[in-house]
Amino acid sequence: MKKVVVVGSLNMDLVMEVERMPKVGETIKGNKMSYFIGGKGSNQAVAASRLEDNVKIIGCVGKDTFGEKILKHLKEDGVNVESVREDNCAFTGLATIFKTPEDNSIVVIPGANDFCDIDLIKTYEDVIKDADVVITQLEIPMETVEYALKIAKKHGVKTILNPAPVKTLSKEIINNVDFITPNETEFEIICGQSFNNGEELEESMVKWQEDNSCNLIVTRGKHGSSYVKDGKVITIDAIEVKVVDTTGAGDTFNGAFAHCIANEFKIEEAVRFAGIAASLSVRKLGAQSGMPTLKEVNEYFK
Ligand code: RIB
Repeated sequence: MKKVVVVGSLNMDLVMEVERMPKVGETIKGNKMSYFIGGKGSNQAVAASRLEDNVKIIGCVGKDTFGEKILKHLKEDGVNVESVREDNCAFTGLATIFKTPEDNSIVVIPGANDFCDIDLIKTYEDVIKDADVVITQLEIPMETVEYALKIAKKHGVKTILNPAPVKTLSKEIINNVDFITPNETEFEIICGQSFNNGEELEESMVKWQEDNSCNLIVTRGKHGSSYVKDGKVITIDAIEVKVVDTTGAGDTFNGAFAHCIANEFKIEEAVRFAGIAASLSVRKLGAQSGMPTLKEVNEYFK
């Protein structure tokens, strides 16, 4: 079993099912509200764990009922939560998700995720040192992300940054990352350009890859995922499935991609495998409910 370490957020997701998004100043009646375990870090950890990796998560929850529920659920899903700190300073992170039949919008209140600090990474440096791959996102403080990546690199551990929710990235961060996995919108911010069509996106990807040493993979929802090889963009199409909820599809891609990098897949295989996992994940409501097992992904991959 390969070792995947996730440094990232843990949230309780409050999912409101609505027919359409409310307009500014409008009150609308929703259909249903459900609680799901979420947070990009916790989602990516579960995605990798379902693929039979040995997964540890470093992060923070509050000392409250949501925190307890998240830790219990992650343990049941095979994720080691010994390096999650239960913090007195804040409540567990919360995400309110408005889900329409077509799409979703998310508001995150970070709570304890904002207290995931450099000290916590120092405490668990050995966990990072022992990993085959470290994956992180941007729902915890930037200095923590920066430090975790630096420590991973110091110990020769492969690193993946999923730059979500997107922020401007320093050269130092990028230099400590082996693989960066923005979606199209996030990539616009990272490269400082907007695109009117796929061709413009691909030109920017080639240019960005020429200027940076970390491998760029752009996830493109139902259009699949793209990476650059020998100065050309290669796109792996998504597989077609009946979509119930796309929340967490990006996280499934990232958790599965971490599994592939830990297991030394070639990049083309890793992007295809992670794309299949992401497509399969959208068939159920809730970020983690539809995340596939290794057997399910392999049925399509092979
Ligand atoms: O990527 C989906 C996740 O974003 C949700 O689970 C929510 O918690 C937010 O962090």
